[in-house]
Amino acid sequence: MIDLLVRDVRVSDEATGETSTVDLHVDGGRIVAVVPHTDEAVEAGTVVDGAGAWATPPYVEPHVHLDAALTAGQPRWNRSGTLWEGIACWAERKPMLTREDVIDRAEQTLRWYAANGTLHVRSHVDVTDPSLVALDALLEVRDRVRDIVNLQLVAFPQEGICSFPNGEELLTEAARRGVDVVGAIPHFEDTREDGVRSVEIAVDLADRHGLHVDAHCDEIDDEQSRFVEVLATQAARSGLRERVTASHTTAMGSYNPAYSYKLHRILARSGINMVSNPMVSLHLQGRFDDYPKRRGITQVKELLAAGVNVAFGHDDVMDPWYPLGTANPLQVAHVGTHATQLLSRDEIEETFRMVTWRAARVLGLGEEYGVHVGAPASFVLLPAVDGYDAVRRQVRPTHVVSRGRVVATTPPAVTTLTWPGEDPAEVTFSPAVPPPA
Ligand code: FE2
Repeated sequence: MIDLLVRDVRVSDEATGETSTVDLHVDGGRIVAVVPHTDEAVEAGTVVDGAGAWATPPYVEPHVHLDAALTAGQPRWNRSGTLWEGIACWAERKPMLTREDVIDRAEQTLRWYAANGTLHVRSHVDVTDPSLVALDALLEVRDRVRDIVNLQLVAFPQEGICSFPNGEELLTEAARRGVDVVGAIPHFEDTREDGVRSVEIAVDLADRHGLHVDAHCDEIDDEQSRFVEVLATQAARSGLRERVTASHTTAMGSYNPAYSYKLHRILARSGINMVSNPMVSLHLQGRFDDYPKRRGITQVKELLAAGVNVAFGHDDVMDPWYPLGTANPLQVAHVGTHATQLLSRDEIEETFRMVTWRAARVLGLGEEYGVHVGAPASFVLLPAVDGYDAVRRQVRPTHVVSRGRVVATTPPAVTTLTWPGEDPAEVTFSPAVPPPA
């Protein structure tokens, strides 16, 4: 007898994208067989009728700040809407952090993520705090949620490595305490030289501890902010390459075409990943501009065309930098399509991959990610035809399965409409669009 049988779901071939209707056999937390759908009896502890849903790997959140999540308005609201006032609000909130406070908010946000079908999360945690209380709390959360959500932690020097007292020591201590990723924030450092030095420190620290690097990089509307070339070059020279990620890079939205051309080449050659956070960048950037007003979005379409791996992240969920947010990557993909003008059918499909497969590459999930024999049984059942359809209709997963267990179920919403001259009737509004013939 197997632990779990998921009947009648469509899966996409990971190489060709072609879909077929199958049954998934799950045992010991892993997918042990993917067989053509049949009504023949199979002994299983739990049986789920997929009713033709699309079984896809779970969403992956490549960039969020769980230590700050759900603190919007504490101790005051960010009224200017700038990144800089957000950092000031956070600096006022930080002394109030306690272990319980951080654990409660982080776990609450992770509950939302899991219910939305997100089972891999990379969270930054501010380590420019001599008490490191948020770091210790999130290390505890990482263990507490391990059976449901795979949580990666980034040591994030919010107030700088070189420009904050003992910044390098705090970053090093965070690596010693067991983070997965080393962060940096070169554009925030006091001088350009400090910015370059901070990248060198982060890459060297990650290299020595066998960790990844994920830097907040050029998150500013300053076309002179060019640390991503430094990060990419360091990634290539250290050999860390795809273990390095540049997040935000909003300054790239202001780079001139000649420099952009040169930069695309450097980035593609380096193998690094990029993460754009469209909801938050649309909100925080352009705040110092008159009209015409820049939108502060990195060159997502051009980077994809250059062969660079780009993913979409949420960044903030109700914190000093962003007052909204539901911890739902599908919402991020929807905003991302508009913000980056990725709006042809194929491009919209690609934005779905940017919160699934491409984000999985950022986290380095490898063969452990996907709906195939041998992989952990972690997937979602979407009542959608494909990624394009899921993004357009913002469908919720009917089932979320994590390591062989059904951890969330959501019945489809039903609307009863009374139309003039007709009896009340259930309507399927905005129905699924069938795939092209
Ligand atoms: Fe961020």
